[in-house]
Amino acid sequence: MAPAAATVSPAPLQSTGDDYTAFCEALHRLSGIDLSQYKRPQMERRLRAYFARKGIDRLTDSLELLRRDPAELDALLDRMTINVSQLWRHREQWDRLEREVLPELARGGRVRAWSAGCSYGAEAFTLAAVCLKAIPTAGVRILGTDIDRRMIERAREGVFSDQDARGVSPAELERGFERVPEGWRARDVLRRMTTFEHGDLLRMRPAAAAHDLILCRNTVIYFAEPIRDELHARLAHALRPGGYLIVGATERVASPADLHLEMAYPFIYRKA
Ligand SMILES: C[S@@+](CC[C@H](N)C(=O)[O-])C[C@H]1O[C@@H](n2cnc3c(N)ncnc32)[C@H](O)[C@@H]1O
Repeated sequence: MAPAAATVSPAPLQSTGDDYTAFCEALHRLSGIDLSQYKRPQMERRLRAYFARKGIDRLTDSLELLRRDPAELDALLDRMTINVSQLWRHREQWDRLEREVLPELARGGRVRAWSAGCSYGAEAFTLAAVCLKAIPTAGVRILGTDIDRRMIERAREGVFSDQDARGVSPAELERGFERVPEGWRARDVLRRMTTFEHGDLLRMRPAAAAHDLILCRNTVIYFAEPIRDELHARLAHALRPGGYLIVGATERVASPADLHLEMAYPFIYRKA
């Protein structure tokens, strides 16, 4: 879904006292999502623009509506957590995984991967399909986690629209997906490789060296920088030596050497 439209008059975008903080606390209690961890200027602007379009100027004035109507809460979360994804998103990274990273990881016989901030599962199922092609005999387990329970439910269905599959050739798709009226459904061979769980990345404490590969792409862009850096440190800790961390194509790890990471390829870090 697109970010909130910017065509709103400036007046409603100004802060009204600190209703922002009060709103974040109430939303946290209501939904479990803690917006105070995100970059305030962007998040506040988007929230105010969203509610201004509904004629609500004080953020806290929206709370009664959100408590009363689950559909309103859903619509807000849809807009704020930005679940945009697609199959084979950032194609160059998948080509790199297929050719270099996965064959190297599969030398150990198994690959334990984590799609951290998996949205509705397109990233996890793309990884499963690429593993099927690149390392068919390895034991692959892919965990997808997201803070948004509705996305986890969708990910478990494993159904993707034609829009999700844009730019992917039918030959590539048909290996792992079958045609259904809604678009493309992941075949059982991919489903057996994937599991999905609800989880807040800011609270999860994954065990040391638990993963060979972690994809955390397009999920930290709205996090305040210290929060993002702490998360990257926890992800690096959760990688085994020789494992890989993949970030989004506009993202970076601030001080990779401090985390024993080196950039092996663009946006792909290898743990020493
Ligand atoms: C833009 S999507 C990225 C999906 C996928 N990684 C990709 O690149 O296509 C960002 C996802 O991060 C999730 N997210 C945001 N904050 C999170 C948090 N604190 N913990 C876990 N997931 C979070 C959102 O719910 C959303 O589904």
